[in-house]
Parts: sequence; C-alpha cells; structure tokens
Amino acid sequence: MNKNNDLSVALVALNQLNSDILLIMNAKQPTPYSIAFTTALPHGVVVGVHLPDSKEPVPDDVISRLYKGEVEVAKGFSGYKQVSWVGGRIAASMATKGFGFPRRPVLSGPSGEPIYDGGLCVTISHKRTMAVAMVARSSHGSIGIDLEIPQKPRLGIAERVLTPTELADVRALPRERQWTATIMRFALKEALYKALFPRVRRFVDFNEAEITPDVNGPAEYILTLRNEEGPFIAEGRIHWLGEHLLATAHVREPRKRRRRRPKARETGQEADR
Ligand SMILES: CC(C)(COP(=O)(O)OP(=O)(O)OC[C@H]1O[C@@H](n2cnc3c(N)ncnc32)[C@H](O)[C@@H]1OP(=O)(O)O)[C@@H](O)C(=O)NCCC(=O)NCCS
Repeated sequence: MNKNNDLSVALVALNQLNSDILLIMNAKQPTPYSIAFTTALPHGVVVGVHLPDSKEPVPDDVISRLYKGEVEVAKGFSGYKQVSWVGGRIAASMATKGFGFPRRPVLSGPSGEPIYDGGLCVTISHKRTMAVAMVARSSHGSIGIDLEIPQKPRLGIAERVLTPTELADVRALPRERQWTATIMRFALKEALYKALFPRVRRFVDFNEAEITPDVNGPAEYILTLRNEEGPFIAEGRIHWLGEHLLATAHVREPRKRRRRRPKARETGQEADR
C-alpha cells in the first residue's frame, strides 16, 4: 500500500478518534458565539467558536465580551466580516487563557495578520459557521491555522495551488480521493502562509512550498522561498473535526548547535598549571 492509500485509511481512523469533538460540533442549533470545542494539538491550543451563519450585526452583549481595543475595531466592521472577526477574537481570548499571560486584545496588522502584543502567537481562521484560533508561546516558533469544509469538490483550484509534483501526486490517486488530497494540501499551504508571514512579511505564493501530507505524523514542507529567506523548519498537521478539516503549521529557525567547550586537556591548559 502506498503512502497516499495509507493516508485515506488513517483519515477514517482519525475521524473516529475525534468523535468526542464531533459530538460537540454536531450539536443541533448551537448558540451563536458559544465555544464549540477546546483542544490541545501539537502546534498549540485550539478553540472553536460557533458563528451564526448570518450577516446580522453582532449583538451588543457579545461585542461587550471583547477586550477594550477590540470593541472599537469590531464596531467598525459590518456583515460577515464583523461576525467572523468577533468570533475569531472570542476563540483567541479563550485559547490564550491558561498560558498565564496578561489579558491583551488581538488586533489586526496592516496585512490582516493577527497581532497579540507579547509572548504568545495567535492565528485565526473562519468559515461561515465556525471560527477557530490557535495559540502557542512565541518562543517556540510561529504558527498558522486554516479551517476548511471539504464538502463540495472544486478540483479547478488544484492547478492554481499545487506545484507540478503535487499535481502529479494527486492525479495518481483514484478520482474520488483527489479532492480531499487537494484540499488538504491547500489548507496546509494557507496555514503555512500564516505561520511564515511574521518572518517574511510578504505575500508567499502557492508554488513556494511543496507538501507531502501524512496524518500519522507531521506533513513535510519543502520551502523554495523566492527571496531565499530562512532557513526555516516548517511542519504541518492535518486534523479532522467532524465536517471541518483543520490544518496547522509551525515554523521555526533551526536550533543553533552549542559548541562543545574543549576540555582543559585538549587546550593544553592543564599542563600550564
Ligand atoms: C491570508 C489568507 C491565508 C487568509 O485565508 P482565508 O481562507 O481567506 O481566510 P481565513 O478565514 O482562513 O483566515 C482569515 C484570518 O487570517 C489571518 N490573516 C490574514 N492575513 C494574514 C497574514 N498576512 N498573516 C497571518 N495571518 C493572516 C487573520 O487573522 C484573518 O482573520 P481576522 O481578519 O478575523 O483576524 C488568504 O486570503 C491568502 O492570502 N492566501 C494566499 C497566500 C497563501 O496561502 N500562500 C500559500 C503559501 S505556500
């Protein structure tokens, strides 16, 4: 059995493993802006928040749950942007609890990146009925998250987001598996972009990374960054939460090897004494 076949079998098993989360996410008519799930994943603590699937203004009692700096920003948005932005902040606020850092707002930088001022990395993604935020200590590296619902196949995106090698890997699969294989790679790339952005501070194209997903462990990213930034070590993971596919990415610099101190004997100091 090749690696991609292994992947499909493992995906089914993983889906069952996540059944506790599945139960929560399948709850009928969840309360808008309530917590859908909280979980600790290899790249950080993730919180999901139910969104109302409506462009109605976010109720004042929900906005009042945000931090001071966030309230003003949220009130400046309307429609789905307001709904998703607020949902992401509620998720981020929940996910930062427990790290023991002071309460701070999560604002948006000039390129749309979430900004949390001090000690933690925050990354956010949303779909119409769910917002997710992942939080980790910034001393461990930078992180990214992407949420997708792989229900309706849109195989047309494959040529836009996959490299020729990835495209060949996907097309070698049975047709019914090609969409899942495509959306997994897409989500892993979007998550990677969010994790890379704080380091490169520019748009990163889809052909600047190549991925081999593996649900049994980290997905391997091979980076070919246009401006040769780095070196970086990048790792991706796929998680299935009911109908949602969650991709997370972690980027760090290679650890500097500590130079071994030569023993006195090797430097001749012992003889000098
Ligand atoms: C920025 C981008 C990844 C957002 O993805 P999306 O599917 O449109 O939306 P999502 O809901 O998943 O994510 C939105 C969140 O992304 C975050 N985000 C936006 N720009 C960001 C950036 N430059 N860096 C990090 N995070 C960013 C924000 O937190 C935003 O939520 P918020 O506005 O509520 O704070 C996407 O629009 C994009 O530009 N993709 C192309 C770049 C890419 O993926 N390259 C692949 C490299 S291999």
